Amino acid sequence: MQPIKILLEEKDMPDKWYNIQADLKVPMPPPLHPGTRQPVGPQDLAPLFPMGLIQQEMSQDRWIEIPDEVRDVYTMWRPSPLYRARRLEKALDTPAHIYYKWEGVSPPGSHKPNTAVAQAYYNKQEGIKRIATETGAGQWGTALSFACNLFDLECMVYMVRISFDQKPYRKAIMEAYGAKCIPSPSPHTQAGRKILEQDPDTPGSLGIAISEAVEDAASRDDTHYSLGSVLNHVLLHQTIIGIEAERQLQKAGEALPDIVMGCFGGGSNFAGIAFPFMRYKLLGEKPDMRIVACEPTTCPTLTRGPYRYDFGDSVGMTPLMAMNTLGHGFVPAKIHAGGLRYHGAAPLASHLLAQGEMEAVAFHQLECFEAGVQFARSEGFVTAPETNHVIRGVINEALKCRESGEEKVIVFNCSGHGNFDMTAYQAYFSGQLEEHHFSEDQITQNMQALEGFPVP
Ligand SMILES: Cc1ncc(COP(=O)(O)O)c(C=O)c1O
Repeated sequence: MQPIKILLEEKDMPDKWYNIQADLKVPMPPPLHPGTRQPVGPQDLAPLFPMGLIQQEMSQDRWIEIPDEVRDVYTMWRPSPLYRARRLEKALDTPAHIYYKWEGVSPPGSHKPNTAVAQAYYNKQEGIKRIATETGAGQWGTALSFACNLFDLECMVYMVRISFDQKPYRKAIMEAYGAKCIPSPSPHTQAGRKILEQDPDTPGSLGIAISEAVEDAASRDDTHYSLGSVLNHVLLHQTIIGIEAERQLQKAGEALPDIVMGCFGGGSNFAGIAFPFMRYKLLGEKPDMRIVACEPTTCPTLTRGPYRYDFGDSVGMTPLMAMNTLGHGFVPAKIHAGGLRYHGAAPLASHLLAQGEMEAVAFHQLECFEAGVQFARSEGFVTAPETNHVIRGVINEALKCRESGEEKVIVFNCSGHGNFDMTAYQAYFSGQLEEHHFSEDQITQNMQALEGFPVP
């Protein structure tokens, strides 16, 4: 019998996160205060985040201790299994060795609790009682609801309206964990009311929901804001995925991988699998390692968005961050991969892309569902529409190996299950899933709002 699952024992779970900022060849451009345009300091962020997280956001230390309380919760599902996709390899008739880290084993069903638990912990430490957040497809809102419940915090989730309608069970699972979830834009905030006045039928976007959650947190002393992706500390918490994967690959008798891949929304699960491996590339130990982010053609932030300073939200309440962006006013098409509908990209990933350390590729919704179905029929797991983007990318790379005969080692992050996404699969099977088209004019139009902003 050939091994399929490569497992680590609980005692072998990593006790530190990896901070790639320590190994960057060129430092990142700093976030800027939206008013003064000067680099933001810890005090600027203090109304929204606890100091424990702000320090991590700015830290240059290579390894950061994972608190015991956080590791205690992680043991509910971590270390997560690394699978050798033998059945998919066979179906593709490829000599490539395909491995995937399966993050769908977490109770909320995705990689998101790796940071939700850490964020809830640091907020609790600082005496915060309530956390406000946004969610796209609902995976992040579910993860934060789960984490807040464990640390006895209230949780308020603004869910992008199109996903709220597409995935009705998401609200119920958040309520099962004790959280409150409402569709965004909502009449509860000034930001929401303004957008509803302009377009009462808007499908919403992550940028809009972020504006609402930030406004909610900024207007109450007992409440902080929490972001499920993009920021340095969020990417940091996700590196436990790649650190475990590296140990598991060694256990499987493999050298460092040739290709590391992840789907890309704001960049957190991608960074989680990629950054610990990218370290070896940055240090020159495996300079030809390819690191590839997979995104949707309808929200092509990395492949078509320019590298500019822009706001993280739609209304302009956050600091200006140097990132690949489609413009903070961009409202992506109503694709089912709601977690990938974000106008910006993590500043760390954008910087590494600008430095030529990683690549990005974009896929259409239909070809991603086709890949997800092929994966389900060989590996058994029905994955989230977001995850299907990386599966598309991996299958394409594995097919190239079939042509060239190369036995490349490909490792990817399988970020979550699709059990709440069955309406999307239903639409795909009944031929009702639409392909959306994206025009260059949309970018040009949105870029006008960035005129006069600093350029990194
Ligand atoms: C299952 C899944 N994968 C990927 C993503 C994309 O987010 P990120 O790029 O931060 O990993 C999401 C976001 O909601 C998600 O739910």
